[in-house]
Amino acid sequence: MRMTVFGTGYLGATHAACMAELGHEVLGVDVDEAKVERLRSGEVPFYEPGLPEILRRQVEAGRVRFTTDYAEAAQFADLHFIGVGTPQRKGEFAADTSHVEEVLARLAPLLTADAVVVGKSTVPVGTAARLQEIADAHVRGGVRAEVVWNPEFLREGFAVADTLTPDRIVIGVREPGGPAEEVVRGAYAPILDSDPCPVIVTDLATAELVKVSANAFLATKISFINAVSEVCEAAGADVTVLADAIGMDPRIGRRFLGAGLG
Ligand SMILES: NC(=O)c1ccc[n+]([C@@H]2O[C@H](COP(=O)([O-])OP(=O)(O)OC[C@H]3O[C@@H](n4cnc5c(N)ncnc54)[C@H](O)[C@@H]3O)[C@@H](O)[C@H]2O)c1
Repeated sequence: MRMTVFGTGYLGATHAACMAELGHEVLGVDVDEAKVERLRSGEVPFYEPGLPEILRRQVEAGRVRFTTDYAEAAQFADLHFIGVGTPQRKGEFAADTSHVEEVLARLAPLLTADAVVVGKSTVPVGTAARLQEIADAHVRGGVRAEVVWNPEFLREGFAVADTLTPDRIVIGVREPGGPAEEVVRGAYAPILDSDPCPVIVTDLATAELVKVSANAFLATKISFINAVSEVCEAAGADVTVLADAIGMDPRIGRRFLGAGLG
């Protein structure tokens, strides 16, 4: 399949290279010309084991390319992934969703055929519905851009394995079993055919909340073990032995129970 990936940072560069590794033709799009230049030469601008080899191989094979040109991207494919940043707003707890909004506002008017736009960024619930409104307001007459949500669970340091052999794939759609879901399943078909994982199809709000809830739960585990470590310090106990012991309970699990910065 042909597809684009908007935002070629940690998530997007990994996704673009790995989708090409699966046999797709991929165009990565970013506003950062310097980053695009490095990726074009097959250089990964961050440390991620295994990714440089995949990127170099796929750049040389011509299966993944990079651009800053939205018009080129709109013409290239009818399937567009979004992996731009959603950083915390300065001085607030809220996420800054302006980058994902900007992608829709710039891309939608350039589309000349119906398209599926697959959000992968981590967003507050309600963002996908708002992006659909932005798409609807900006597309040309007769063109439909369907927004779906497919949260990304990759872990830095394991990004390649997590992308090529995910634990699960979550697809949030307005119409389960509809054409947009089929397009997303098509993109992941090489994974699902060779090493199947559960695919959870749900509504947009649930898909968005799955990801933020997962992040919140993992943060809770770290915060919990740090609170316990303070009790251990006061009592002269060993938090590492404690974490090993409670982590053996499958309801608790040892992962993400490392006291420290997180
Ligand atoms: N890094 C991770 O481990 C990880 C894992 C899961 C989910 N996520 C989520 O994925 C999203 C991206 O995270 P990241 O770590 O890749 O961020 P990042 O900062 O590494 O990359 C974001 C990229 O988006 C580009 N960008 C910004 N505005 C753009 C626009 N209008 N058009 C095209 N490109 C644009 C930036 O130039 C940058 O290269 C976030 O929502 C994050 O929460 C990240």
